[in-house]
Amino acid sequence: MQLSDRINSDADMTPTSWQERCLAVQSEFGWFLAAIEGLRPAPLVDRAFIRALDECWIQPESLVWPVVRYLTAKWPRALSGVAVAGEPQLFAVVCDPLLLKLLQRTPALTPGLDTLLARVRCGALRRIMEHGDIDALVPTLTALAIRGWHSGYALTLPLEPRHEADHAQEATLVAELGRDLEESKREGRDLVAALAVYAAYAPPEPDHLTAALATGDPAVKVIEQNVTAPRLRQREIARSLEPVTGLDPSSRKVADQYEAHPYPSWIGQPAHSVRLPEPVRLALGPGGPEAVRSVLVAGCGTGEHAAVAARAWPRADILAIDISRTSLAYAIDRLQARTGDRIRFELADLLEIGQLGRRFQVIESMGVLHHLADPEAGLRALTSVLEPGGIIGVGLYSAAARTKLAAVGSRFDKEEMQSDEAVRRFRAWALAELKAPEMLYSPDFYSIGGCRDAFFHVREHCYSLEQVGEMLDRAGLTLLAVQTPPMARERLASVPEPADLAGWAAAERAYNDLFLSMYEVWAQAAQRPE
Ligand SMILES: C[S@@+](CC[C@H](N)C(=O)[O-])C[C@H]1O[C@@H](n2cnc3c(N)ncnc32)[C@H](O)[C@@H]1O
Repeated sequence: MQLSDRINSDADMTPTSWQERCLAVQSEFGWFLAAIEGLRPAPLVDRAFIRALDECWIQPESLVWPVVRYLTAKWPRALSGVAVAGEPQLFAVVCDPLLLKLLQRTPALTPGLDTLLARVRCGALRRIMEHGDIDALVPTLTALAIRGWHSGYALTLPLEPRHEADHAQEATLVAELGRDLEESKREGRDLVAALAVYAAYAPPEPDHLTAALATGDPAVKVIEQNVTAPRLRQREIARSLEPVTGLDPSSRKVADQYEAHPYPSWIGQPAHSVRLPEPVRLALGPGGPEAVRSVLVAGCGTGEHAAVAARAWPRADILAIDISRTSLAYAIDRLQARTGDRIRFELADLLEIGQLGRRFQVIESMGVLHHLADPEAGLRALTSVLEPGGIIGVGLYSAAARTKLAAVGSRFDKEEMQSDEAVRRFRAWALAELKAPEMLYSPDFYSIGGCRDAFFHVREHCYSLEQVGEMLDRAGLTLLAVQTPPMARERLASVPEPADLAGWAAAERAYNDLFLSMYEVWAQAAQRPE
């Protein structure tokens, strides 16, 4: 069937279902685009990728590797690492509008691009310190500034002998450039270029921007609107948050980590609705997700999860709580204008959620309970505020999937990995030394908060699927579904039924990275006795 036929196939569509249908088709086309191998460079393909990223047809992170495969076909010497410094392809690829769109849409990259962009940024820094002309690179540096702010300025040169001198020099030169900007030592195009280089390394303070804004240059405006202004707003929001529950003393250590390094890093978010596993839809009864009115997102982080929940539960009021002010401030700043009052963000500890005196039809807590001192106490606290018959979705780490990541993390002293600079050094080491590059496929590797969360968490527990099942039993919950992990359909000859825990455990024994991000399970509370 043609796409237009698919869109037109329902004669009674309301404007909302029209919009939903269009978004669903866009999303399908986005996945199709991401899956095609061997795409030949053509303006139409460039345009399709740019629109898919710009309009977030699918999660931008899912387009990173397909876009890089395509760019490699377009600029083979530059992206296969054979081009030597100064070669025109290197310049062409870092100025390619498709690459710039990718940088503005997601902090995720690939190891090769990470290194290439770090080299280009370092080259631009050295040149601007000599007052050289880098005008043509300003759009790339501006895109790097946006990505930098969202990723915690994770970009780094690999720890290789040829970069030793650059590593030593970079911080000194950036500090010197910052002083130049504060003391208005630059003007005109040189000033704009200097600001763009600085912003690719660190967030400009208002003092760095004053003179540059007076030039009226659009690049300066972009940096001001996408980096400096949101940063100041978020600082204010974080200060203004008042806790609505007590903070359990055991939560302090984890709160401190996310205060310093909020998680996850995200820029673009698709607008299409989220499909829930069939047993969850059935358990909701005839009204389905539309009938749900109250949802709790426990441990919402920087808000991406709350935005996904808002799409999964389209008519619900959503309470999204977290113990990290900086994470909440990022979430509020990014989402409040878009979602209005439908998502309410509060500073609260899920262990103390009973203090609110409210109950919820649905609770989601993804990637949170395994960071508590006592995850079962967390599950009990959440279950105690679930309506009878209510649905809960929890995400917990798989021990099998995390073995390799944990082995990498254990080579470093966790106590020392608490500063941005230490995490950058780890990234530089990993880019040069890590012999298992698939570990660098995760979007988490490309941000400071993501690396800290994945490799150097102050506290985490890991489980087998069997243990997850036992935990749900002890909380009086009935398993409805194990969310099918992304690779399952490609890899497994037969995909287990959603609630077949033993079947999923067997699948995981065959592919121990099947649940690499985590197990996501859905369960239901007992109904009220008649
Ligand atoms: C790994 S992040 C997950 C964020 C989000 N759920 C997601 O999937 O994108 C864990 C979040 O849980 C929050 N958190 C940890 N312990 C918490 C607690 N006791 N109460 C509320 N939030 C908590 C952290 O501050 C952090 O933002």
